[in-house]
Amino acid sequence: MEFDDLYQEIILDHSRHPHNFGEIAGCSAQVELDNPVCGDNIQLTLLVSDDGMVEDVQFSGSGCAISMASSSMMTDLVQGKPVADVREMIQSVQKAMRGETNADNLDELGDLTALKGVIKFPVRVKCATLGWHALEDALVLAENKK
Ligand code: FES
Repeated sequence: MEFDDLYQEIILDHSRHPHNFGEIAGCSAQVELDNPVCGDNIQLTLLVSDDGMVEDVQFSGSGCAISMASSSMMTDLVQGKPVADVREMIQSVQKAMRGETNADNLDELGDLTALKGVIKFPVRVKCATLGWHALEDALVLAENKK
């Protein structure tokens, strides 16, 4: 796999020092998700406020550099945002990663732009979207709890 050096560095930095790595006590929803192909695993906890804001997202688990980095980037991007905006962001990331929309859409999403190179590798796209799928599931669970 070929990555631009700068992008590679951003990915490795997130995977070695993941942001928001942990667990929220008293969370609104908790999700555990595996990538059955490789066995990577993520546990995600989400806290949503009564007025519909993502107050906190934390994750833990083990996996490849791409799944860990993408999850770490995801937690940075969604903290403090309205749930509706976060849902839109999830769709936009998943579509861009699957090659259904322009990959340049990822440029507006902070460090996530470093994962553009992954789009050419369908197997790795699953790695890059694992954390986002977990967040999507957690939002549904949090919604149903209300
Ligand atoms: Fe398993 Fe990346 S190799 S999620």
